[in-house]
Amino acid sequence: MADMSGKTVIITGASRGIGESAARIFAQAGASVVLTARSTEAIAAIADEIGPQAMAIPCDVADYGQVAAMVSATVERFGAVDVLINNAGVVEPIAHLDQSVPDEWGQVIDINLKGVYHGMRAVMPVMERAGGGSILTISSGAAHGPVEAWSHYCASKAAVNMLTRCVDKEARDKGIRAIGLSPGTVATQMQREIKASGINPVSQLEWSDHIPPEWPARCLLWMCGAEADAWLGDEISLRDEDIRRKVGLV
Ligand SMILES: NC(=O)c1ccc[n+]([C@@H]2O[C@H](COP(=O)([O-])OP(=O)(O)OC[C@H]3O[C@@H](n4cnc5c(N)ncnc54)[C@H](OP(=O)(O)O)[C@@H]3O)[C@@H](O)[C@H]2O)c1
Repeated sequence: MADMSGKTVIITGASRGIGESAARIFAQAGASVVLTARSTEAIAAIADEIGPQAMAIPCDVADYGQVAAMVSATVERFGAVDVLINNAGVVEPIAHLDQSVPDEWGQVIDINLKGVYHGMRAVMPVMERAGGGSILTISSGAAHGPVEAWSHYCASKAAVNMLTRCVDKEARDKGIRAIGLSPGTVATQMQREIKASGINPVSQLEWSDHIPPEWPARCLLWMCGAEADAWLGDEISLRDEDIRRKVGLV
């Protein structure tokens, strides 16, 4: 396992699922971890379990003011931000485009797309002053092809991939490592919501078809190491057997 001692990692959407797993795995690797999400009690309880190297900061990523304040509080407590994991995301409300509610559609863009931009915007100056850092963003297969009733989700994930590419173009020479991770389907609350919708082929998958959240979490840790530099400005797919081997999952 990579040694993250002395490093500070911010994880958005750390109240459950992939984000919670990432917080635990990075803490086990020695990092100081900042857990953010809207569910104040959930992140506080997880941070308590992890111990003094963890801090919970309630934050809605759709609100830039809250994201900027969360990054400032992280720097105040730990002195730096070495890794940002842009993980917060939603898929509900699942709906055909011609029946979607514009404000609700827009709220998904506010979280999945603008939330990622907000994180990047807030940490990049901090990282650049320190000589660099890693910005890891959770992508999806939905970024690459249309999925019925997921127009908001597909559009947001495709756009987020472009943000990773833009960050790489503008800031690789300032030491910023920007990489996306497409995890495949993962056994989390999001897949429960997808199953309940019953709408598209993803909702027909069995629970046993999904990988555990620890897999993407371990991949994110591996992505902090030099071996992942080959994917700077690009996306890693955890469906790829070769990547699974490199991460030590198979
Ligand atoms: N599960 C899959 O099969 C799958 C596949 C591909 C990609 N992904 C991506 O993986 C990421 C994590 O999803 P998951 O599967 O772990 O789902 P999850 O269990 O539903 O977790 C989503 C997390 O995002 C947080 N969140 C949602 N809206 C937020 C907001 N406005 N501000 C801050 N945090 C917010 C939630 O916390 P609060 O509700 O407490 O705010 C929660 O911690 C997402 O970006 C998702 O799109 C998942």
